[in-house]
Amino acid sequence: MNTKKKVGLIYGGNSFEHEVSKMTAQSIRENIDQSLFDIKEIYIDKSGNFDKTLLKDIEVAFLAIHGPNCEDGKLQKFLQDNGLKYTGSGAKASQINMDKIIMHDYFRKAGLNTVSYFGFNKIFPIKDIKKSVNKLGLPIIVKPNNTGSSIGILRVENIDQLDDALKEAFKYDNRIIIEKAVLNPRELEVAVLGNDKLLTSKPGEIFTHGQVYSYENKYCKPFKTNKVAEELSKTQVDQLKEMAETAYCITGCKGYARIDFFMDQNGQIYINEINTLPGFTKISMFPQLMQALGFSYQDLITEIIQLALKK
Ligand SMILES: Nc1ncnc2c1ncn2[C@@H]1O[C@H](COP(=O)(O)OP(=O)(O)O)[C@@H](O)[C@H]1O
Ligand SMILES: [Mg+2]
Repeated sequence: MNTKKKVGLIYGGNSFEHEVSKMTAQSIRENIDQSLFDIKEIYIDKSGNFDKTLLKDIEVAFLAIHGPNCEDGKLQKFLQDNGLKYTGSGAKASQINMDKIIMHDYFRKAGLNTVSYFGFNKIFPIKDIKKSVNKLGLPIIVKPNNTGSSIGILRVENIDQLDDALKEAFKYDNRIIIEKAVLNPRELEVAVLGNDKLLTSKPGEIFTHGQVYSYENKYCKPFKTNKVAEELSKTQVDQLKEMAETAYCITGCKGYARIDFFMDQNGQIYINEINTLPGFTKISMFPQLMQALGFSYQDLITEIIQLALKK
């Protein structure tokens, strides 16, 4: 009798991170424990279409996808409505954390330190945007509200650059978030695993040298990373872990997530974002952070599927 669990590997998708998703899927395909799981491939094309009859044949879905339309709760809701279990957070938590304005509002309400920010839509008058920018003070970071992989994100040093940055960000979303820029921040990332009982990694670090961590630096010419950030005090490490767990809990995450932070030159910590479906190739930060806790990539895949089945 075949007792292996049938896992639907869902990848591709209608998002800017289609290609990244293919890399994640490839890594999972090569490393999943074949004595426990049978993989069924479910490819979502660039228009968001896939063969829904394939879902009938699986017991749990592994979401190897990223970005809008994939990570934002729509697919999660669809799977839920079809009675299917899937890896990672549910529809609501996915939606909150893909929406940078709402996500920041949640952080603020829980007392987590964030940069100063404001959000608006396409009809918000430019004079009001400028007024708020004046209040924040330059430099600022202009971001489409709901993308990922740094797409459409620009740093504005000088007010004359604002119009172009708004135009660029509005290409990707009809809402924008403007944040006060942290100067030369350290970029620290923490991995959290679990549904009810959480396992939290030490912070890892991306060496961005004060630049915006761009799509190119994420996937084409990667910045150097360290899976255990050095020169942090025990208090700072504990603070990062505690903030990561708080953020995970207040937004209702399940399964796993990667929580990203900035640290300024004075050691002040700001929470930046939660990635509910973080990069998940063997060399991505999330698996690396878990590896530092003694979890092999294969065991991590197994655990994430088990957590999905227990949800
Ligand atoms: N407030 C900020 N201050 C300084 N740098 C920032 C700020 N916000 C974003 N960045 C830079 O832009 C990158 C991408 O921003 P992020 O909010 O993480 O978007 P994404 O969801 O696309 O990853 C960050 O990793 C960082 O390098
Ligand atoms: Mg990011």
